[in-house]
Amino acid sequence: KRLLPMTAAFGLLLAGCGREDLSVLRPQGPVAESSYALMKLSIAIMIVVLLVVFSIATYVWIRFRRKKDQNEIPKQVEGSFKLEVLWTVIPLILVVVLAIPTVKVVFAAGNDHSDDKDAIKVKVTGHQYWWEFEYKDYGVTTAQDLIIPTGKHIAFELSTTDVLHSFWVPSLAGKMDTNPDGTVNRFSFSAPNEGVYRGKCAELCGPSHGFMEFKVKSVSGEAFEKWIASMKAPESVMPDDPALAEKFKSQCLSCHAIGSMPASPVAPSLTGIGSREAVAGILLNDDTREDGAPILENLKTWLHDPQSVKPGNKMPNPKDMGLSDEEIDGIAEFLAGYTLE
Ligand code: CUA
Repeated sequence: KRLLPMTAAFGLLLAGCGREDLSVLRPQGPVAESSYALMKLSIAIMIVVLLVVFSIATYVWIRFRRKKDQNEIPKQVEGSFKLEVLWTVIPLILVVVLAIPTVKVVFAAGNDHSDDKDAIKVKVTGHQYWWEFEYKDYGVTTAQDLIIPTGKHIAFELSTTDVLHSFWVPSLAGKMDTNPDGTVNRFSFSAPNEGVYRGKCAELCGPSHGFMEFKVKSVSGEAFEKWIASMKAPESVMPDDPALAEKFKSQCLSCHAIGSMPASPVAPSLTGIGSREAVAGILLNDDTREDGAPILENLKTWLHDPQSVKPGNKMPNPKDMGLSDEEIDGIAEFLAGYTLE
């Protein structure tokens, strides 16, 4: 009877791993691949142990079951030197077999490439509930979309401005905590193929923890340089309507940074927001997908009621800041059109 709910729970667990872009079972980079190989090895060993133990147990249950008219207690045996050596040595061998590749993988993963001249250094900062990415060597700061050149090692340095978060891109590598005590964690990964990889916060950090998503966009080296250039010297953009531009400046830019403004510690940068993969990390800007919508629609959803999208986030409702519905739509249109390139 207990088996049914357990099977159901396990099924649900597997179903949860079914999202292709959020699965450790479809590794896309060397770090994730080595962890996956370890998982396969330990599961294989577990299955062999399970089969052997259950076979022996089944044999014993059948071979030594109580026979008809058998009433006396069977011969009592205790302590077999041979068996005890056997069941100590076999697990020991298994542990060693597991330990050798584990130590190798852990040490390889511990290489944070922070001294690598070729590596792209990125400072990751967790905020309730968004991610900030600072490219220290380039003087560029962005949010939510981490743009990386394909094939290069990315050397991460992780911290937080509030609580404990965990930086996780299941198909590439992870996880790594961002510590509120000031400890800086470092690690590295690379993406051998171009593509968009889904990332998530993996440490319970408040009511919108589940929505604290980001994207890793692996692009060609050329496209990366182009992106850096457009981020470094962004065109100075403002809404066309002077009245709206005034509202945007006084209300939105009191927290957010845009263009050449220095990065704000309290709110994500808006530079090139129209080119991002999602609004607020979770409203996917892709109307060809079932869970996506056009960016303008997503921006309107977000700006008209940020708390309904991400409860507990620090963005005030623009309506409470004196913006009318038309002004909010106007800002959404302006931001949707603010693309790079
Ligand atoms: Cu940040 Cu969970």
